[in-house]
Amino acid sequence: VDVDPSAYEHGPVDGRPRMYTEMLEQPASVERALRGRLDERFATAHLGGLDMDARELRAVRRVKILGCGSAYYVGQMGASLVEELARIPADAEAASEFRYRDPVIEPDTLYVAVSQSGETIDTLLAVQEIRRKGGRVIGLVNVVGSAIARACDGGIYLHAGPEIAVASTKALTTMFVGFALLALQLGRVRDLSVADGRRLVAGLQSLPAQIEQVLGDEERIARAAASLATAESLFFVGRVRGYPVAREGAQKFKEISYRHAEAYQMSELKHGPLALVSPEVPTVALVPDDELTDRNVAALHEIDARGGPLVVVTHAGVDLGELRAERIDVPRNERELDPLLLTVPLQLLAYHAALTLGHDVDKPRNLAKSVTVE
Ligand code: AGP
Repeated sequence: VDVDPSAYEHGPVDGRPRMYTEMLEQPASVERALRGRLDERFATAHLGGLDMDARELRAVRRVKILGCGSAYYVGQMGASLVEELARIPADAEAASEFRYRDPVIEPDTLYVAVSQSGETIDTLLAVQEIRRKGGRVIGLVNVVGSAIARACDGGIYLHAGPEIAVASTKALTTMFVGFALLALQLGRVRDLSVADGRRLVAGLQSLPAQIEQVLGDEERIARAAASLATAESLFFVGRVRGYPVAREGAQKFKEISYRHAEAYQMSELKHGPLALVSPEVPTVALVPDDELTDRNVAALHEIDARGGPLVVVTHAGVDLGELRAERIDVPRNERELDPLLLTVPLQLLAYHAALTLGHDVDKPRNLAKSVTVE
């Protein structure tokens, strides 16, 4: 795996914050995460490191994903991918909570631990709890030879390259790719058709160029960020595939801008949070072109009617009507892969808001790159 040697040095690169250079590396890191793992002939993925044959993969009845912070939110995106492509019930849980509720470990559940550092103590202890009770755990881990990678039964390395900035960016997009590959392989040993497999393989192959395209929209995103940076509090909203993206967007914004950012399912707005919407509380909304677009746009009109400023991350051609909103369009891919392309502008949004506020994005207060003690 070829990684730029300068990536091993700590601190800013060419005077740019580390987080910035890591965001820019995403087309290359996603390409590395995919390399050698797609099989066009059989329209599937091959993840040799799982160490599971087709019969074992077919025997999986449930998938349970465990991670902390942003890894947990990408885990939620991964659970959707597994359900959509493999039709296996899947969910994600915060690894930091898992062991405290004496979890039931089922023999036909595939447990997946996801971690950039591979050293997060809560995720490691969750893995040990599962294995102690006889469960099978695979790891989606970036750092080779790390504690979590060693503790799992098998797994795949993310090949994101070294990630130094506290705010995780390039590792997260490779985690998403890891889940898409896993879901594709699980799907193709079940009922996912060759046509759907091909569609996903082609979609995955287009991701690096499309990420590049999103990164190329930095100026527009920076303008939107400047308008958000002055708010004390803001919402990030999305639905179904878009909701974990909203959670990750809010997390990134909090980590480096120190503004209160809260994620909500768009469908839940009218059940409470709409009371807070005002010209002082902006909303960042994820509105991909999918089966929920019309409902999402209708919910945004409720926000607009109350004077709430809006930044909408969407696809070209989505009709927002008369909505007063800053609009950021991301490229279209297969719907299942939308979360990745919706996530990238939110990284830039958080980054530019933090710069506007004069924060050191690489050294966010109170946070460490990896949390290795309880
Ligand atoms: C991400 O921006 C955060 N710094 C944090 O939530 C992180 O994802 C979490 O601590 C998990 O780290 P890991 O992936 O190394 O296990």
